[in-house]
Amino acid sequence: MDRSGKDFKLLSTFFLLSLALSNKVSASSDLRHPCNSPCLLISTPTRILAVDYGNQSSFAVISNLSNANGYYVDVHYKLGYLFWSDRAQRKIKRSNMDGTNITVIHNDTDCVGLAVEWNSMRLYWTENPKKTISVSDLEGNNRNIVLSTTDYPRGIAVDPQQGLMFWAAMSKIEKSNLDGTQRDIIVSSNLSSAHSITVDRKRKRVFWVDYRKDQIESVDYSGSNRVLLSRIQGVINLFGIAFTSSFLFVGEWHRNTVFKVNASNGTVVSSVQFASSTPSGSRGIYGYDSTLQPPATCPALPAPTDGAILGCPRNASVNYDTVCQFLCNNRYLGHGSQERRCLLNGTWSGQEFVCQTVTCPLPINAVFLGCKTGETEIINGTECRFSCKEESKVAGSTARRCIKDGKWSGAELACTGIRTTNIRHENEKESDVIPEVLFLNRWMILDYESIHDRHLSLYIL
Ligand SMILES: *[C@@H]1O[C@H](CO)[C@@H](O)[C@H](O)[C@H]1NC(C)=O
Ligand SMILES: *[C@@H]1O[C@H](CO)[C@@H](O)[C@H](O)[C@H]1NC(C)=O
Ligand SMILES: *[C@@H]1O[C@H](CO)[C@@H](O)[C@H](O)[C@H]1NC(C)=O
Ligand SMILES: *[C@@H]1O[C@H](CO)[C@@H](O)[C@H](O)[C@H]1NC(C)=O
Ligand SMILES: *[C@@H]1O[C@H](CO)[C@@H](O)[C@H](O)[C@H]1NC(C)=O
Ligand SMILES: *[C@@H]1O[C@H](CO)[C@@H](O)[C@H](O)[C@H]1NC(C)=O
Ligand SMILES: *[C@@H]1O[C@H](CO)[C@@H](O)[C@H](O)[C@H]1NC(C)=O
Ligand SMILES: *[C@@H]1O[C@H](CO)[C@@H](O)[C@H](O)[C@H]1NC(C)=O
Ligand SMILES: *[C@@H]1O[C@H](CO)[C@@H](O)[C@H](O)[C@H]1NC(C)=O
Ligand SMILES: *[C@@H]1O[C@H](CO)[C@@H](O)[C@H](O)[C@H]1NC(C)=O
Repeated sequence: MDRSGKDFKLLSTFFLLSLALSNKVSASSDLRHPCNSPCLLISTPTRILAVDYGNQSSFAVISNLSNANGYYVDVHYKLGYLFWSDRAQRKIKRSNMDGTNITVIHNDTDCVGLAVEWNSMRLYWTENPKKTISVSDLEGNNRNIVLSTTDYPRGIAVDPQQGLMFWAAMSKIEKSNLDGTQRDIIVSSNLSSAHSITVDRKRKRVFWVDYRKDQIESVDYSGSNRVLLSRIQGVINLFGIAFTSSFLFVGEWHRNTVFKVNASNGTVVSSVQFASSTPSGSRGIYGYDSTLQPPATCPALPAPTDGAILGCPRNASVNYDTVCQFLCNNRYLGHGSQERRCLLNGTWSGQEFVCQTVTCPLPINAVFLGCKTGETEIINGTECRFSCKEESKVAGSTARRCIKDGKWSGAELACTGIRTTNIRHENEKESDVIPEVLFLNRWMILDYESIHDRHLSLYIL
């Protein structure tokens, strides 16, 4: 299924002649933004380091890891979370970006690769020997297996905008939708040991390193245009790979060297040796940069019928954090969220805003006499009259206006006296009735509950 044999070409060979090694370690503590771009998070057998590739300084975000083969790292940039797997403890852990508040989010996992889907805020990870890809939320809840394979999946990368995930399975590179459907093998030839994988989401390319061949390769999302970018000589097993700032950063399993490689032409631009630790070697490499996790855009919201939308474009998708506000035309009342914000996952906060005619419910303890002529509904502004069931009014307004929030202006009627009435059918004698008023469209139904008998009368307003 390799569709790219003819495009397979060696763009560059890099001979490791000399390395400008440098080994400055600083002890910074503010790690919300641990370094300037290109900023790398690199897991070593015992620590997770933030490496400032520009000035080659580094410090440990997480230390005291149990010494095991492979720590896989990813972050949720906006939330400031760092995730990693600890194979010796069979756990996936999370901390803040300053290394505080370490929390176990999964027990009993044999995670050999993980990736944060930052828009839906979910964590994907591969497991060996179970041969599965699992997903959970970022708290570790709602854990599910999205995919079972016959191979051993390892490094995994996601592209939320395209709804895709890619994973390396030693002799194959595969992809599927984020729900595990439409699985496809995009590379299956000439691979011996692909562990780590990264993607350039703008150019829609997948990159991986072959651990045995010490080469960096690339293919587009569909599996076409395979390119051998670089074969680096003199290294001891290339392993981690990260795409950031339009370069690839590739590390060695046995040493603390990280190579910077032009992702288009494969030229190795430089190499840096970050802080040594014993035992040495880089495991996972991750680029730490806001541009790697662009927030989703929200679909344009329509203006409500009988109302208007303010503060956001009406016809184009909208960026994260944009706030739209809504207003209703005169004599309409808004229901729902008057203000809605575009969230990280590309959905709108709040509830749909709709404009409705104001309908005031009739007061219970007063007799409804009717409204000003011409009204078919009691809406904002409608003036209506009420009276007491009894003759005497203690307090309150007899003329009230249905206002904005579905309430009546003025004060409720307070009445005294017993068993008198002020509502009569034309033909009816004044009698002991306690009218109850219902309102159905244009029909006013007066339900006279007589003390002696019962009957209904219908009035057309
Ligand atoms: C595999 O790679 C070799 C060179 O390493 C090349 O000659 C050969 O054509 C490749 N085969 C396929 C199927 O890509
Ligand atoms: C490297 O740059 C970072 C800022 O990104 C700075 O905090 C740090 O002190 C610098 N380290 C050295 C050794 O220059
Ligand atoms: C290292 O981890 C062990 C066990 O998890 C713990 O007992 C110890 O206090 C930790 N040391 C440091 C310096 O965090
Ligand atoms: C630490 O993590 C726990 C568990 O996820 C969370 O409830 C708590 O708010 C966090 N505390 C801080 C200071 O981040
Ligand atoms: C992991 O196991 C520990 C010890 O058994 C337990 O306290 C913790 O709640 C578990 N965490 C999760 C996320 O299952
Ligand atoms: C390849 O990229 C390197 C560094 O980015 C650049 O210096 C070099 O000119 C490029 N080579 C070609 C052939 O474009
Ligand atoms: C990387 O290589 C491409 C192709 O040779 C070149 O056009 C580009 O300028 C190089 N990028 C950088 C940052 O040097
Ligand atoms: C809004 O988008 C629709 C469909 O894309 C288009 O037909 C319409 O002309 C656009 N209106 C404005 C004001 O841009
Ligand atoms: C209700 O009517 C009043 C008076 O005309 C007006 O000021 C108010 O904005 C209206 N409210 C709504 C929600 O239309
Ligand atoms: C989007 O994020 C919000 C806030 O975190 C959440 O309530 C909502 O369920 C999410 N929607 C989807 C479709 O993930």
